[in-house]
Amino acid sequence: MAREKCVLAYSGGMDSTISVVWIQEQYDMDVVTLTVDLGAGPEIEGVKERAARAGAVESLIWDVRDEFVNDYVWRGLKAAALYEGTYALSTALGRPLMAKKLVEAARQTGATAVAHGCTGKGNDQVRFDAGVKTLSAHGDPLRIVAPAREWGMSRDEEKQYAAKAGLELREVGDDQRVYSIDRNLWGQAIEGEDLEDTWVTPPEDAYSWTRPVADTPDEPEEVEIGFEAGVPVSLNGKKMSGVALIDALNDIAGSHGVGRIDHLENRLVGIKSREVYETPAAVVLHAALRALETATLSREQQRLKSFIATEYADLVYDGRWFTGVREDMDALVDSSMRYTTGDVRVRLFKGTAVVTGRRSPYSLYDFGLATYSTDDEFDHLAATGFIDIYSLPARTQYKSQTRHDAR
Ligand code: ARG
Repeated sequence: MAREKCVLAYSGGMDSTISVVWIQEQYDMDVVTLTVDLGAGPEIEGVKERAARAGAVESLIWDVRDEFVNDYVWRGLKAAALYEGTYALSTALGRPLMAKKLVEAARQTGATAVAHGCTGKGNDQVRFDAGVKTLSAHGDPLRIVAPAREWGMSRDEEKQYAAKAGLELREVGDDQRVYSIDRNLWGQAIEGEDLEDTWVTPPEDAYSWTRPVADTPDEPEEVEIGFEAGVPVSLNGKKMSGVALIDALNDIAGSHGVGRIDHLENRLVGIKSREVYETPAAVVLHAALRALETATLSREQQRLKSFIATEYADLVYDGRWFTGVREDMDALVDSSMRYTTGDVRVRLFKGTAVVTGRRSPYSLYDFGLATYSTDDEFDHLAATGFIDIYSLPARTQYKSQTRHDAR
């Protein structure tokens, strides 16, 4: 009888490479690796060889960058989803799509199990498991194997296991730090090793997408981003695919040191963890789109949207992507974006991204109403009547209820 098959989400990193070996040993299953390309860049190189060396029977590489950007990243951007106000959810937005692809690959290859390299302490296990369980709910249930959650090895034991299995590790620095890094087009998350001390300044070599401010250009650079219905469509006047635009913006903004985030965050599993992020394009695009919204949305639309933002960010972070409530929120957000078309200019300089201009054919900003020049069209005297009625309830209440001696 043929051995059962397991499709493993495979990044090529240490945890997932050890997992290839470990699943064969512990579960007596064949391992098919699936590398879901979300734009992790050079990491994809050599992935097939690494998988084969670790004993995988087949290794799939699926480029899903367009789907990632169009169906996940842009939704998060439009919803203003920043977890705890800072983290653009790069990893968190990628996981549901990876779960979807794992289920697809399992169905295609006749696998009975899927696996991921997440530990039992993180958010990612929740996102993977919940995604797989949800999307496979119709067919035969898929067994979920999570080696790093099951094997009980410490980080040092993992390194030893990797050495025993003949796997090479990519180390940082002479002191053999191996950060746990997750990266895709929308950002990279760096954790572990010396960063586990919340007082330690992240060493320069922990970063790789952003330059230290001391080495950034002494001249500011302006970028112009064009949006259509809330979606970025051009950079400096040039139409681009989402993938190309994010790639280019990561480079430009990263070279000005924009996009470093040092966050002590609340994980879903109840622990606080220190995470360092590099998300240059995300920082610029969030700032730019929010600026455009200030022109195209009414005050009430802006407020309503800001209520959704935290909900949306928590939902993504917590692995509840494949739910009706997410679709409901998307519908509201998309409706609010109908007229959010226009351009935003952002100035990049010494680690900062500052909006210096915004314009839209649908802007609610009316020069004739706003100006203090002779072009003023606003009826100043009408303001008195407005304030009279506007302050009526306050006056009424003050007269009948307030104890004047106490004020
Ligand atoms: N803390 C982030 C999240 O939960 C990123 C986790 C990424 N993993 C890593 N190995 N750095 O979305």
